[in-house]
Amino acid sequence: MGRLSGRIALVTGAASGIGRSSAIAMAREGAELIVTDVDAAGGLQTRDMIVSTGGRAVFHLHDVTRENAWAQVLSGLGELHVLVNNAGHCAAAPLSEMPYELWRRQLSVNLDGVYFGVKLAMPLLAKSGKGSIVNISSVAGLKGIAGLSGYCASKAAVRLFTKAVALECAAAGNKVRVNAICPGAIETPIWVKMGNGGALPSDAKRYGEAMETARAASVTATPLGHAGAPSDVASGVVFLASDESSFVTGTELIIDGGVMAG
Ligand SMILES: NC(=O)c1ccc[n+]([C@@H]2O[C@H](COP(=O)([O-])OP(=O)(O)OC[C@H]3O[C@@H](n4cnc5c(N)ncnc54)[C@H](O)[C@@H]3O)[C@@H](O)[C@H]2O)c1
Repeated sequence: MGRLSGRIALVTGAASGIGRSSAIAMAREGAELIVTDVDAAGGLQTRDMIVSTGGRAVFHLHDVTRENAWAQVLSGLGELHVLVNNAGHCAAAPLSEMPYELWRRQLSVNLDGVYFGVKLAMPLLAKSGKGSIVNISSVAGLKGIAGLSGYCASKAAVRLFTKAVALECAAAGNKVRVNAICPGAIETPIWVKMGNGGALPSDAKRYGEAMETARAASVTATPLGHAGAPSDVASGVVFLASDESSFVTGTELIIDGGVMAG
């Protein structure tokens, strides 16, 4: 019997990195997965990775910034126990060089997307009697990072949004727990996208070089001496999704190799 047997879990941004790893980890624990993303090829690959190992998963093309896309995905569900708001956009630029569209894009994906998900999925989660929402924030939501003002603003907002909604749910007695995870440097394609306006560069050589630079930077910046893997965050997601965390709400789990310790 898995730790999430009988649960239905939806993960946004599940075509890649932390979202994919979290979906796979929850499926391994017996959950039925709804994986969503704007990247259809990657999302279908995640679905296939789960199904080919005996798990259950479906993929939906889903832009988290669009309210009607959320309504469409959720309308097909009879039940929902776990929502992982993971989709993210990160674009590095000093404020003086950050156009409004880039600022808005980060707020839109990282914050508006979480607002829509939490608001629209809440009735289904409450109906389940065991709802758990996990919002993926960041160490960049706990401290300022030069060149990431838009990203930091969006991730900090997600932390307090999480706490406020957790208290509303507790007061309503709807048995929905709401928590955030703040990852530090986790080796995923977002490292490469952030230097390219938030999009993947098409040039493989450039991708490899950017990944190597980010990996080297995270070695010196992380007390444990290396970047984390997506599975390090997925373990936290499984814990917050499961009954093991039934007395945990309104908190943030920092998974950062010690960055925030000093
Ligand atoms: N990797 C890190 O170092 C790190 C650290 C802290 C927080 N995070 C957060 O973790 C989450 C996952 O990021 P990752 O590192 O796995 O990056 P990633 O780039 O591998 O995955 C992000 C996914 O979000 C999807 N996405 C982007 N915009 C979307 C939209 N509008 N609608 C639906 N999906 C969309 C992308 O297609 C992609 O599959 C993000 O919220 C990110 O901000 C990452």
